[in-house]
Amino acid sequence: MTVTIVGSQLGDEGKGGVVDLYGDAADVVARYQGGDNAGHTVVHEGEEYKLSLVPSGAIRGKTGVLGNGCVVNPRTLFDEIDTLRDRGLDPEIRVARRAHVIFPYHRVLDGIEEDVKSEDDNEVGTTGRGIGPTYEDKAGRRGVRIGDLTDPDVLRERLEYVVPLKRALAEDVLGVEVGEEFDVDALYEEYREYGRRLENEDMLVNAGKFLSDRIDDGENVMLEGAQGTVIDIDHGNYPYVTSSNPTAGGACTGTGLGPGVVGDGEVIGIVKAYLTRVGSGPMPTELAGVEGDTPGYDGDAGEREEELATYIREAGDEYGTVTGRPRRVGWLDVPMLRHASRVSSFTGLAVNHVDTLAGLDEVKAAHSYTLDGEELLTLPATTEQWGDCEPSFRTFDGWPEVDWAEVADEGYEALPEEARTYLEYVSDEVDVPIYAVGVGPGRSETVVRERPF
Ligand code: GDP
Ligand code: IMO
Ligand code: MG
Repeated sequence: MTVTIVGSQLGDEGKGGVVDLYGDAADVVARYQGGDNAGHTVVHEGEEYKLSLVPSGAIRGKTGVLGNGCVVNPRTLFDEIDTLRDRGLDPEIRVARRAHVIFPYHRVLDGIEEDVKSEDDNEVGTTGRGIGPTYEDKAGRRGVRIGDLTDPDVLRERLEYVVPLKRALAEDVLGVEVGEEFDVDALYEEYREYGRRLENEDMLVNAGKFLSDRIDDGENVMLEGAQGTVIDIDHGNYPYVTSSNPTAGGACTGTGLGPGVVGDGEVIGIVKAYLTRVGSGPMPTELAGVEGDTPGYDGDAGEREEELATYIREAGDEYGTVTGRPRRVGWLDVPMLRHASRVSSFTGLAVNHVDTLAGLDEVKAAHSYTLDGEELLTLPATTEQWGDCEPSFRTFDGWPEVDWAEVADEGYEALPEEARTYLEYVSDEVDVPIYAVGVGPGRSETVVRERPF
C-alpha cells in the first residue's frame, strides 16, 4: 500500500519528521514533485540531517526514489549523497528517467526574474534553485530529462536547441550578461558525466513501473510531498507559489502510480499548530511581518504582535532550512486546512509543533474569514481576495510547558487538556482524525495514535 504525506499549509509543516516516523514500516520512500527547494529535517540518533533532494527515508536505509514529477539538480543530488556517505550512511537512491534536469541556467534565470519583479515589489521570494524555469521548460517541451543525460546525441541536440534560446532571453530580453552557465560545451561535458554516474551506480528507473512492482510484491511505499497545499501551482495562492503540485494528485502524476493506488492508501495532511510562510504573498493570520517578505510591511505591527511572533519564531526555530531566512509567523488558518483536506482527501492529520506554543496565555485560530461582509469557511479562489480576507478568530486557553518526552511516551491523554481541546477543535473542523502530534523535533517526541502502514 501507499501512504502519502502532504503539506497542508505553506510548506515546512514538519513533513520530513513524519516521513521519518512512519517510514519505518515503509520499504520505499518516493518524492513526487519539487526539487532542491525543499528542506526536510530529520533527527536520527541525535544527528540532524537537512535534506533537499534525497527522500527523507534514505536516512534509515529505505530505497529513496525521485519520481518523474521532480526536477533534479544532479549537482545537489550527488553533493547530498556524498555528504551522507561521509557521515557514514549509504543511501540507496533511484531517479526517474522522466524527471527533468535543473541546469545552471535555470538558476540564473530564476534570480534574474526575481530581480526584475522586485523592481515593482512583485517578487515571489523563490528559493533561487531554478525550480520555476525548469518546470517552465518541461511544460514548454524544451526540457532535458534525466534519461537524456545517458544519451550523448540526445543530450547535445537538446542543449544546442535550448541553451541559445535561454541566452537570448537573458541577454537580449532581460538585459543581463551571462557566463558559462549558458555554454553548451561546458554544460554537455559536466552533465554527460552525471549521466555516466547515474548509470554506473544503477540509479535510473522507470518510476511508475519500479514502484508498482514493489507494491505488487507486497511492499509499502511512502510518497513524500514537498512544499504545501497553498503553494501548489493549481490550488495555492498563485502567483506566490512553487511550480509543481504538492497536493495528493501530484503523487499520481509525479510517480506513475494511478489515483486508485494512491486513493486506496492513506493520505496524511501535515499541519503546523500555527502558520509559517517563507517568501511573499498574503497571509491573513500573520502576526508581525518580516521586512522584505511581508507585502507592504513597514516594520510596525505593534508591540504585542511583535512579541508573539518573536516568541513563536524563536521557540519553533522558524528559520528557513534552505535559505536561512526568518519565516513569517501567524496563527493557524482553519479555512486553509479545510481547503487542503478537500483537495487531497486527507485520511489522517499529523499536527506538529504543539510544544512550540506552550507557555502562551492564549492561542488563537482563524475559524473563518470575512470578505465583503460574507463569512467564508474556505479559501477564496483568487489571491487578491484572500489578501482582503479578515480572519475571525477563536481563542483557546494556552497550555503549560511540560515534559514533552514523557508525554510522547505516555500517549495522547497525557497532553495538557488545553492542547487536546485545541487539537480536537482542529480535527472536528477539518473532519479528519489526528494520527500523530508532534511535541518536539526528535522522532521520539511524537505522540502516535495511528500507524497508517
Ligand atoms: P518540512 O519541510 O515540512 O519537512 O519541515 P522543515 O524540516 O523545513 O521544518 C520543520 C522544523 O520543525 C524542523 O526543524 C523540525 O525538526 C522541526 N519540528 C518538526 N516537528 C516538530 C515539533 O513537533 N516540535 C518542534 N519543536 N519542532 C518540530
Ligand atoms: P518544504 O518542502 C516553504 C516557497 C518559496 C517561494 C515559493 C516559490 O521544505 O516544505 P520556488 O523556489 O519553489 O520557486 O519558490 O515557494 N517554497 C517553500 N516554502 N517550504 C518549502 O519546501 C518551499 N519550497 C518553496 O519560499 O515563496
Ligand atoms: Mg522545509
